[in-house]
Amino acid sequence: VNKPFYVNPKLVSMEYAVRGSIAKRAAELKRLGRTIIPCNIGNPQALGQPPLTFYRQVLSLLEYPELLKDKTNQISHVFSDTAFDYGHTIMEKMETGLGAYSDSKGHEFIREAIAEFIDKRDDVLKNNGTRSNPDNIFLTDGASEGAKNIIELLITNKQDGIMVPIPQYPLYSATIHRCGGVQVNYYTDEDEGWILTRDALEISYSQAEENGINIRAIVVINPGNPTGSILNKGCVDEVVDFASEKGLAIIADEVYQDNTYGSKFHSFAQAVWDRPHVPLFSLHSVSKGFYGECGHRGGYLEVRNSPKLVSTEQSLIEILFRQASINLCSNTIGQVLVYLMVTPPSEESLVGELHKNEVKSVLKGLQEKASLIKKSFTEMEGVQCFGEIGALYLFPRLDILPDQTTDFDYCMALLESTGLSTVNGSGFGQKEGTHHLRIAFLPSKSMLEEVLPKWIEFHQKYIK
Ligand SMILES: Cc1ncc(COP(=O)(O)O)c(C=O)c1O
Repeated sequence: VNKPFYVNPKLVSMEYAVRGSIAKRAAELKRLGRTIIPCNIGNPQALGQPPLTFYRQVLSLLEYPELLKDKTNQISHVFSDTAFDYGHTIMEKMETGLGAYSDSKGHEFIREAIAEFIDKRDDVLKNNGTRSNPDNIFLTDGASEGAKNIIELLITNKQDGIMVPIPQYPLYSATIHRCGGVQVNYYTDEDEGWILTRDALEISYSQAEENGINIRAIVVINPGNPTGSILNKGCVDEVVDFASEKGLAIIADEVYQDNTYGSKFHSFAQAVWDRPHVPLFSLHSVSKGFYGECGHRGGYLEVRNSPKLVSTEQSLIEILFRQASINLCSNTIGQVLVYLMVTPPSEESLVGELHKNEVKSVLKGLQEKASLIKKSFTEMEGVQCFGEIGALYLFPRLDILPDQTTDFDYCMALLESTGLSTVNGSGFGQKEGTHHLRIAFLPSKSMLEEVLPKWIEFHQKYIK
């Protein structure tokens, strides 16, 4: 029987600009032999960022544990003593090695290490804060899985809404759409450096409320993607006050917490210490920062202030545990990378010194490259880029475009002309009538030095 084959229409209509039609065209051009500079996505190692030596030494030892058994083997000189020590510790604590499933939440010793890392990061003892609880931490396949699980948990019917910043990372819009909820936009203030204001939150909340939407949570991406903005403490506290007054949960996407280039990162975990009734879901990952291990898919979700649930005796953590159990566990290499991210080697060891220098060099390089690109905007008529440098992206506004053209047309033409693959601002959402593009500042300096003059030339011709 030739039975019609239906699929979920929500998946058909789901959009994800970062890998949308510009990226598809870039792949086509690459197949045709063109040099493409893939700045459409925050994929550090695809653009030449080297993996950190220490991380890869430990992973190699764990992937082939025979090496761990005998430190005098033929190739042991490749590995540092510290990597051997970490390898042994991890292997003992894992008991079963990398090839076995772990607990659904992830290995307990890794969750304990994450809790210690969070407490240290937020200086919990000195500030008399609330300690992180390893039982409320879930290891995930990248931050994406954590975000998806939370959104799935919160959207119970088609009137349930989640507030997302505009512009936003399309994981949020796509997942809310897929789960059948309502995306409630709030607008960040571009001219003030993409800051977040209470007024903007209130406007978006009351409009949604008037439309009968039951807002469940607010997403904050800090540092921001695509804008690179970094929230000051006042803004973070403002979101917590707002969530507290409206009875919302906070989804804090903090995957760029190490990409601040001198500015201070303020976590949401510390901001809810004295607000025990504001549920917080915070996300972190090994994908970005200076680690850039996005292909290894490691991340975690920390839950604070779990509310009591209606119509079930189960706790929120139990429900999240069920959700995690369906996937059995997150991948174990990702888990180990999270462990390494939260327990860096002592700087006194040789490899620790090397690690520190590699980290510095990656972050310094990123900042320099961002500054180089930002400077070239000054030579492009009608291009303005607001705010400090943060995350891995610049999000300039294109104030002059030829009539009847959009930022999508601009990005497509830029790709055809220079091989530079970027993402149109409309893929992230933007204020009506404005145009932007997002560029990841990841290519090597030499690549940028080659492509930026071509971009400037393209721009000046395109807008005439
Ligand atoms: C804001 C933000 N959150 C989450 C992710 C997904 O990260 P992961 O690779 O950890 O799933 C990204 C990836 O670019 C991102 O930019």
